[in-house]
Amino acid sequence: MDDRILDEGKQPFEENVEMSLRPELLNQYIGQQTLKDNLTIFIEAARIREEALDHVILHGPPGLGKTTLSNIIANELGVNIRTTSGPAIERAGDLAAILSSLEAGDVLFIDEIHRLPRAVEEILYSAMEDFFLDVVIGKGEEARSIRIDLPPFTLVGATTRFGSLSAPLRDRFGVQLRLEYYDLDSLITIVNRTADILEVTVDPDSAMELARRSRGTPRIANRLLRRVRDFSIVKKESSITLETTNHALKVLEVDPSGLDPIDHKIMNTIINTYNGGPVGLETVAVSIGEEVITLLDVYEPFLIQQGFLERTPRGRKATAKSYDYFNGDPHIDIFRNEE
Ligand SMILES: Nc1ncnc2c1ncn2[C@@H]1O[C@H](COP(=O)(O)OP(=O)(O)OP(=O)(O)O)[C@@H](O)[C@H]1O
Ligand SMILES: [Mg+2]
Repeated sequence: MDDRILDEGKQPFEENVEMSLRPELLNQYIGQQTLKDNLTIFIEAARIREEALDHVILHGPPGLGKTTLSNIIANELGVNIRTTSGPAIERAGDLAAILSSLEAGDVLFIDEIHRLPRAVEEILYSAMEDFFLDVVIGKGEEARSIRIDLPPFTLVGATTRFGSLSAPLRDRFGVQLRLEYYDLDSLITIVNRTADILEVTVDPDSAMELARRSRGTPRIANRLLRRVRDFSIVKKESSITLETTNHALKVLEVDPSGLDPIDHKIMNTIINTYNGGPVGLETVAVSIGEEVITLLDVYEPFLIQQGFLERTPRGRKATAKSYDYFNGDPHIDIFRNEE
């Protein structure tokens, strides 16, 4: 899993690279037009009212730009941002310490907010709604609750699992923004923007090919570009050619639709072993030796979005499109990029 080239998740060594590639303002943030239009209005209104922006929840698959957007929101508002994550806040006291250090208008970004411990989540409710905390100090008979007033702040939460948020938490976000997979044009623009930052030149047909195989995900587009660039450097090209791009992607086991060997295994198992389904995802996971959670979070959303896989009440089903694409042949040559 860790070095899977098409993993939408961030790989540890990518932290610094990603920082340098992150757009800082809304007008540098490519695609997601509806989301940007909405956000622009909310930010503008908050500025005019001179109030903190309403709490924002950003949700959608990994690598689509949630963390990037949270920073952009703070930049556009001209306020500080404090960054933490659900699993990092273990006790109510941890959250109290962070919240009471905020200045009026600041952004508190909680990544993976669906992983906040229950007890922490509960004290967040009053903080979000009325900007105060009820903290219990002492134990047993001595225990008493004190009220701490907080400055008005904006909570920006990010999650890949909107469905796992409890209703009370979900409802406290006035602004709910869903990130969508990027379209081809946006991904081409992202590839070209990243190439500029990395100071490499990409032939237009290479940029198009990279965009096409990036699973609608900027993180993957950037990662593929960096890998393909390595091949191009070795070949001493002045601009990354389509030939090199196709060759590199073949070596990296990325097929023409951005699918990798595990996607192929999943689809071939459903089509051949289970006659196209419906079959439970757990069964598929066992058959191919992957974790259910990985299939659920990483593989399935893109296969569904591409129309290869269908979710039905009785399990997963292969679509007609997937029969065409995978030929129902378990021995299909998955790297059949024409060369
Ligand atoms: N709209 C965009 N325009 C340009 N680059 C983008 C855009 N969205 C994301 N990126 C790039 O993709 C990379 C990944 O984005 P980011 O880390 O914000 O994703 P994420 O949604 O927070 O992922 P995760 O769910 O794994 O935390 C960033 O380095 C950024 O450069
Ligand atoms: Mg993130």
